[in-house]
Amino acid sequence: MENKYLGLRAPMGWNSWNTFGEEINEDVVKRSADAMVESGLKDAGYEYIVIDDCWSLRQRDENGLLVADPEKFPSGMKALADYVHSKGLKFGMYSCDGPLTCAKYPGSFDHEFDDAKTFAQWGVDFLKYDNCFKPKIDGNILYRRMAMALRNCGRDILFSACNWGVEHSERWINSTGAQMYRSTGDIRDDWTSIRKLALSQIGKITHSGPYCHNDIDMLVVGMYGKGDCINNAAYVGDFASSGCTDTEYRTHFAFWCMMNSPLMIGCDIRDMNEETVKILTNKDLIAINQDIESRAPFYLGSNPDEPREYFYMVKMLSDGDIVIAAFNFSDKKRTMSLDMFDIGLPITTGKKFKAFECVTQTDAGFISEVLVDSVEAHDCRVYRCKLVDR
Ligand code: GAL
Repeated sequence: MENKYLGLRAPMGWNSWNTFGEEINEDVVKRSADAMVESGLKDAGYEYIVIDDCWSLRQRDENGLLVADPEKFPSGMKALADYVHSKGLKFGMYSCDGPLTCAKYPGSFDHEFDDAKTFAQWGVDFLKYDNCFKPKIDGNILYRRMAMALRNCGRDILFSACNWGVEHSERWINSTGAQMYRSTGDIRDDWTSIRKLALSQIGKITHSGPYCHNDIDMLVVGMYGKGDCINNAAYVGDFASSGCTDTEYRTHFAFWCMMNSPLMIGCDIRDMNEETVKILTNKDLIAINQDIESRAPFYLGSNPDEPREYFYMVKMLSDGDIVIAAFNFSDKKRTMSLDMFDIGLPITTGKKFKAFECVTQTDAGFISEVLVDSVEAHDCRVYRCKLVDR
């Protein structure tokens, strides 16, 4: 690979799956690329436009190569990649480690090197690699195969592994060469799903960092129950759930940022309301997510494998700032407190924190000795703190 910085920070972009499922086509992708620029998402740091499953014909061609569906993509993938690039964005696609993808289109098993070459010729910058119809071979071997093919295909292609965290992938995925890895099953657009995925990763907090970020799945921020997959005849997904409140979407976004998860938007970015844009472009939360060290936060609770539903997390940033986040995933308002001694700041130091609350983007005064928060159900606070003299 030429670009030594590929995957250094958590990737940011948009993926077609949550909203469009199989109903994906050239126009949707182009208009989403336009929207990424016009809505300010690009300026906020989002760069990848990724087509998920269902983009190809059901059969490979006579040479065994993948063929883009000419009805969905009449201009072809190269032209589409050129369009995305002309907007100053990067282009992503999808395949699978089995002979078929999850929606039963051709997968890359035993075609890894040819397919990597095809993607490189088309101008692809990102490959999401799924785990359906997996042959009886260890996952780490299959992910290594594709990583090796991508690293030698003549183009920098970010490798987004998606084995949903099975086979303890957090233990071996980094060594395959993947720059991000899906650690969870599919997200749904409802609070139960967000809470479940979030809490499931607290015990794995340190298995994420520069060049290999734990991907807790695409963001559902701004979907409001409008996901289309449930109506999809070819693939009965389960995304069209009830939707969430804006508070829940904010907490979802803040948690993904604290965890250094990739920020892959799943809503229809051609049609976002003001609040959705505000949540997705919150520069203070994005700065935490994109901190160069991607340092794992620490969880202040007794058993990270069975986390409680309301807790503090603390993250060290590369400039010396410290982020203290209070999350309330429970269904009741909670009063929470955190002793500064427990995060490494005893009173004897003569120091205190000057705090800025990043979710509401407001000054939060000073924190000394003990922080007390009263957090509504499903809400959160994220304080970016500077050390100052008392
Ligand atoms: C699932 C994957 C989803 C989406 C879908 C496509 O396995 O977790 O994110 O890619 O396949 O069929």
